[in-house]
Amino acid sequence: MILTGVDYYPEQWDESLWESDAERMAVLGIRVVRIGEFAWSALEPEENTFHFEWLDKVIQIFTRYHISIILGTPTNCPPRWMFQKYPETVQQNQSGQRLQPNIRGERCISSPVFLKFAERIIENMAARYGGKESIYAWQIDNELESNHCTCSYCTHAFQKWAEKKYKTIQKLNKAWGTAMWSGTYSDWEQIEPPILTEGRKTDWYNPAYMLDYERFCSESSAEYVQFQCSIIRRYDPNAVITTNSCFGKYTPDYHSMYQTLNVAGYDNYPPTAIPDDPQALYSNAFVLDLVRGFKQKNFWILEQLGGPMGCWMPIKKQLVPGMMNGYAMQAVAHGADLVSFFRWRTAASGAEMFCYGLLNHDNHDNARIAELKEYIQRVNKINGLSDTSLISQAAMIYSPDQEYSIKNQAQSEGFAYWTQMRLFHEACMNLGVNIDIIPEGTDLSKYKTVIVPEYFVVHQKTVEQLEEFAGNGNSVIITNRSGVKDENGCCIINDYLPTVFTKLCGCHVTETDAIGTLKQRIRSVHGGVYQVTSWCDLVECDTCEPVAEYLDSWYAGTAAVTVNKYGKGKAYYIGTVGEKNLYRSLMLEIFSQDGIPTIDNLPAGIESTVRSNPNMQFRFFFNNTEKAAGFIYHHESVSLKPFEMKILTQSGEWI
Ligand code: GAL
Repeated sequence: MILTGVDYYPEQWDESLWESDAERMAVLGIRVVRIGEFAWSALEPEENTFHFEWLDKVIQIFTRYHISIILGTPTNCPPRWMFQKYPETVQQNQSGQRLQPNIRGERCISSPVFLKFAERIIENMAARYGGKESIYAWQIDNELESNHCTCSYCTHAFQKWAEKKYKTIQKLNKAWGTAMWSGTYSDWEQIEPPILTEGRKTDWYNPAYMLDYERFCSESSAEYVQFQCSIIRRYDPNAVITTNSCFGKYTPDYHSMYQTLNVAGYDNYPPTAIPDDPQALYSNAFVLDLVRGFKQKNFWILEQLGGPMGCWMPIKKQLVPGMMNGYAMQAVAHGADLVSFFRWRTAASGAEMFCYGLLNHDNHDNARIAELKEYIQRVNKINGLSDTSLISQAAMIYSPDQEYSIKNQAQSEGFAYWTQMRLFHEACMNLGVNIDIIPEGTDLSKYKTVIVPEYFVVHQKTVEQLEEFAGNGNSVIITNRSGVKDENGCCIINDYLPTVFTKLCGCHVTETDAIGTLKQRIRSVHGGVYQVTSWCDLVECDTCEPVAEYLDSWYAGTAAVTVNKYGKGKAYYIGTVGEKNLYRSLMLEIFSQDGIPTIDNLPAGIESTVRSNPNMQFRFFFNNTEKAAGFIYHHESVSLKPFEMKILTQSGEWI
C-alpha cells in the first residue's frame, strides 16, 4: 500500500491538541506521522537531563490511532545551552565567522563536542524506542547539505582528507596544478577551506582545489549520516533509516550518502506559480527521478507540499484545486511509496508561521484537507501499486563532480549543469518514456539509450564503459562541455574537444562560442529549425554525419549536432543547448531507432511514466500545467484538468 503521512511537531503545540489531532488524522486515513526532528531542547532541556515522558505519551496516542511513527533524530537544532557552554559546536560560515545560532542548523557536524552530545541523545532515543512496533522508521537530522563549515575542526579534517588522498604534498601539487600563481603547497597545514572575504568568490580559487574541497564537504556529511546510522543500529539492527534530501545550495553526493541507509527520502515542494514562459523548466519530475536514482529503487517523500510556502520569503501563491493531489500523485508516478505531507497544521510561532501546512491557523477542515482525503481514498484503492516500480530502458548519468565543477565555473552566462539534463528529461516524460537518472559506475546492460550531459570532468572508466555500451548496439548521447577536464579538474591538453570522446563521437570541436543568453538558430537535416542559446561548439565531422547545423553567426553552415556509427550502435554529439522541441524531436528519433516505445502526441506539459512488475502495469498521465489538455491514447480520447493525474491499468481500466 502507498502510505500517507503528515509531518507533525507535537512540541510546538499544547498537549491538549495531540489527541484530537491524532483522531482527525486517523479519520482521514493517515498511517504515518513524522515527528521529533527539531525537538532536542524539549528532550534534553539541560545538559544530561532528559525528558522523554512527553514523547512517550505522543507515541502512545498515535499508536492508539494505528498511526506509525517516523522518528527524527533532533540533531539539526541543538539546544541553546550547548552553543552557550561549548561555542566550538557552532559552525563557521564561508567568510570564516561563527554563525549566530539563533535560527537552525548551525551545529558543526565535525565538532567532537557536538558529536558527543549527538551520540548521547540518539543513544537515548534508540535505546528507548528502537525496535518498538510503533516506530516505522528513523529519519536522520534534517535536509543535510554538504558540510561547508570552515571551523578549525573542519579545516583539519580537510587537511587529513587531502593527505589521505594524495599521500605526498608533491602529488597534491601536481594534481591541482598549483604552479599557477605561485600556489604550490609545502605543508598540509597550508590547505584551508576557501574563505570568501573581501568580495572573493569561489570561482577565483583553483578549480581543481575547489573540486576536491566539494568532494570533501560531501563526504563529511555522508560520514555524519553513517555515524548516526550506526548508533541507531547498535540498538535496533533492523531499523529502517532514511534522511530527507533537498536540492539547495550545497548538494552532496546523495548516492554515496544513502549507501548505508535503507531508503531515499526527499522533501518535495513543486511550484504553485507556473511560469508563463513555455521554455521554463519547472517540473519536479526531474528531481523525483534523480531521488529514485539515489538507491535505484522506490523512495519516500518525507515532506510533500501541503500548502503555500512562506518561510523566509513572501507567501507564495495558493494551490489551485487539484494541485496538491496532482503533485502527490506525480511523486507516486515516479516511484514514491510513502508521501508525508508538510505539515499537519501551520506553525503559530517561529519563522515559518506563514509557511502553510494542510490546516490553516483557524484549525478548521478546508479544501486541502478535502483533497487529502480524496488522495488517500484514491491511492488506497489502487491494489498492488506499491509492489511496482519504474522499469526503464533509458538512463541519464548524473555526476556530482560535474555539478560541483560547473556550479563553480559557469561555462557561459546562465549556464547550469541541470539545464540540459532537465531538457532531456522533460522530452522523455512528454514522450511517455521512463528514464532512470543514475550515478557513474552503474551497470548499463539493461539500457538501450544512455544520455550523458556535460561530462566535464572525465573518469576514464566511464568513457570505456560508454564505448562498450555503444559498441554493443546501443545509443549514447554526449553533449557540449564534455571531455574538458581530467579527474582532478585540470584541463585535458593536446587533443581537440571532446577529447576522450572524439573516437566515440567521430567528431572534433575546432572552436567554441560561449554565447550566454544570446539566441541563435540551428537547422536539422530534416528541416526543423530550433533556437539555441548558452553555448555553441563548432563541430567538424571525422567519421560522423551532421544532424543539425548552425544558421547564424560567422559559423553558419558548421555542424552543431552529429551522429556517429560506433560498433553496432551510435553516438550523438550535441554541441549546443537548444529549446525544448530540439530534445523532443531528437529523443523521438533516437528512441524509435532503439526500439523504445514512445507516445508522440502528448501536448506540452503532459508527463507520462509507467510503474509495473511482471504481473501488473499502471500508466500515469499527469497534466503538469494550469490548462486543461486532451489527447488520443490507444484510440480513446483522454482529457485532463489542470494538475490532474489519470492512471490506466493493464486491463485498460482508467482509475
Ligand atoms: C524544509 C524543511 C522543513 C520546513 C520546510 C518548509 O526545507 O525541512 O523543516 O522548513 O522546508 O519550507
